[in-house]
Amino acid sequence: MREQDLSLSRLFEEERPRVHHALEKAVGLLPPPVREIGAYVLLAGGKRLRPLLTLTSSRLLGRNDPELYRLCAVPEMIHAASLLHDDILDEADTRRGRPSAHTCFGLRPALLAGDAMLALADCEVTVFGRTDMVECVSDAMMRTVAGEAHEIALQGSLSHSEDDYINVITGKTGWLLRASCRLGALYAGAEERQVEALSDFGLYAGIAFQMVDDALDFAASDITGKPCGGDLREGKFTPPVMRYVRELEQADRADFTQKFTSASFSDEEISRIAARIRECGHDAATRALADEYLRRAEDCLALLPAGPERNILREVIPFIRDREK
Ligand code: FPP
Ligand code: MG
Repeated sequence: MREQDLSLSRLFEEERPRVHHALEKAVGLLPPPVREIGAYVLLAGGKRLRPLLTLTSSRLLGRNDPELYRLCAVPEMIHAASLLHDDILDEADTRRGRPSAHTCFGLRPALLAGDAMLALADCEVTVFGRTDMVECVSDAMMRTVAGEAHEIALQGSLSHSEDDYINVITGKTGWLLRASCRLGALYAGAEERQVEALSDFGLYAGIAFQMVDDALDFAASDITGKPCGGDLREGKFTPPVMRYVRELEQADRADFTQKFTSASFSDEEISRIAARIRECGHDAATRALADEYLRRAEDCLALLPAGPERNILREVIPFIRDREK
């Protein structure tokens, strides 16, 4: 492949079938009673951003071999399992425009399928015989759970700060993108400062990714595949909601607070608030906040070797900033 042909969209297009194949193999390793659910959530498509980060990170630092596909399935399994569990916790009926796993297969089988996928991710990384890689994955799982638990503890509260929010999303989303990059760097046997630079790149990109996700919560559902205003309904005090509340008159704020804390908005109210958030540009302001983290991510790239893979990682930045779903 010529250097100028190597781009993020080309990588997505070319590598998705190989990543898909690695995920099919992983599904085959799941215990038979939960295999169908594993296939439902793992083979349904999706951006495959995490596996592509692992692939690109390893290649950037000089290692590229067929076993890399087995490794890059690991963060995707953790990601899919965490979304499966998240939909149970959020009582979400749809994901990517189709029924969520627990809606199709039942709560208990879905819960166990997520558990099995997490356990398999762990088993798959031990195959490489590297404690640093096992530690990377275990840390990421732990931080993801901690972020989610922190978010649940704050649910329905309007009194937490933007720093609390950043803490939550660093855990629930940032750490897994960090691990996706770090795994590739460790696999490549890179020197410590490069491993850390790629890890930081992933962490900042992950924080920005979640901010954009929270801005997209107020986009039309036929574009995102998720109901509009889901976070508002679930009592998640995200930056667009923080900005909306700040502008409310006192009486309106009291009414909003009562409904937010009791999760009792009507569908009509959710649509009205979402429209207002878009009108006032609170979703755009949230993307601007994400941009600050994307700039930090870009700074990390300066510490890494120049070349086609670094260019791909640079393209991840506008991909996250401008994504529409
Ligand atoms: C989506 O957030 C959820 C996450 C990014 C993380 C979920 C984590 C858990 C359920 C903990 C269990 C995870 C592991 C690794 C054991 P969201 O609800 O804001 O996004 P959504 O709109 O896509 O649902
Ligand atoms: Mg959710």
